[in-house]
Amino acid sequence: MNENKKPTLEICLTPDAVSFIDLTGKIAVIVDIFRATSCMVAGLASGVTHVVPVASVEDALSYKSEGYVTAGERNGEKVEGFDIGNSPFEHMEQEFKKIVMTTTNGTQAIEAVKNTAEQVVIAAFLNLKAVTSYLKSQNKDVVIVCAGWKSRFNAEDSLFAGALALKLKGDFWWEGDEILFSTHSYSSVKNNLSKILKHSSHYKRLKEHGVENDMDFCLEIDKFKNVPILKGNILENLAK
Ligand code: MLT
Repeated sequence: MNENKKPTLEICLTPDAVSFIDLTGKIAVIVDIFRATSCMVAGLASGVTHVVPVASVEDALSYKSEGYVTAGERNGEKVEGFDIGNSPFEHMEQEFKKIVMTTTNGTQAIEAVKNTAEQVVIAAFLNLKAVTSYLKSQNKDVVIVCAGWKSRFNAEDSLFAGALALKLKGDFWWEGDEILFSTHSYSSVKNNLSKILKHSSHYKRLKEHGVENDMDFCLEIDKFKNVPILKGNILENLAK
């Protein structure tokens, strides 16, 4: 909290930048628009009750005997031997209740904060309004952590961070140039978001795998009202 008595809001444009921030007592909001956090929000909004995010394929496979569906990708492609990949449509299959998930960047970003942040919250365009309301209700410092791509910046997560920061404007004390950059960038492209993001590196990578429908879906705003929160090692919806 700063001298203005408002909680602070910061953005980490890459997960590696988190190591420079003390997350003690803060809420870390994890963002991986294409597609990890969009899958988590969509799955948990559609009947999934537990999502366990893990760092490695081996960790994910160890949950299989406990009845978990194994989900995730490496480099955008389903992991060999897993039940499902990283498409939000797969995560919304009604028969799944418990999913264990590992992805190239999204679950790694969760790993990077889970032992130090006071809370870990999952955000996507799909639950933008719900996450905004939740963060406003908490009166705690917030760090938006963009999962990026293999430690590097990406456009879709950084633009989402700008969208969320704009929603939180007035209730938080903005810290760092990343907010200035992300909010101005989002304001200038918001009416052409999907057109602009078709030029992003991960869109092009995923297009090679023929999953353009996934990206269109991940850019839908406020489709769901749930807010996934990490409790121990499990992501669950915040109880209403
Ligand atoms: C990730 O965590 O890197 C992504 O969600 C990759 C993907 O698009 O599946």
